[in-house]
Amino acid sequence: MKIAIGCDHGGFAVKGEIAEVVNELGHEVIDHGCDSGESVNYPDYAEKVCEDVESGGADRGILICGTGIGMSMAANRSAAIRAALCHELFTAAMSREHNDANVLCLGARVVGPGLLREIVRTWLTTEFAGGRHQTRLALFSALD
Ligand code: RB5
Repeated sequence: MKIAIGCDHGGFAVKGEIAEVVNELGHEVIDHGCDSGESVNYPDYAEKVCEDVESGGADRGILICGTGIGMSMAANRSAAIRAALCHELFTAAMSREHNDANVLCLGARVVGPGLLREIVRTWLTTEFAGGRHQTRLALFSALD
């Protein structure tokens, strides 16, 4: 898969490690920045990654900020995006299995680097279960 990755200054320190896990699992990283710890605005990076997922340029996206909250709020403004903020492994798995999340949001100031790696690994290797969950996702279009 092609995985679009974006972060703000709060997530920059772990972006490289996250990209490493993505590569280890055999996926391609599309890096949308940012590229330093200098203060930037997270909605700009959420937009770049979400546009890539929406257009089909990327299969999925990963967004990292300090808490993951701002990125998830910004990402979920797009109708085609199902962004999940995950701070542990159960929700990482369920966001894929039940919600078919296409964007993973992470909080680099909340979770340590070891757990972040495992969350990414779990999220990228868990399949959507479909069935009744697909029926529920189809109802999202009524909310637009
Ligand atoms: C930046 O200081 C911080 O607000 C941002 O990384 C994120 O946590 C927002 O939700």
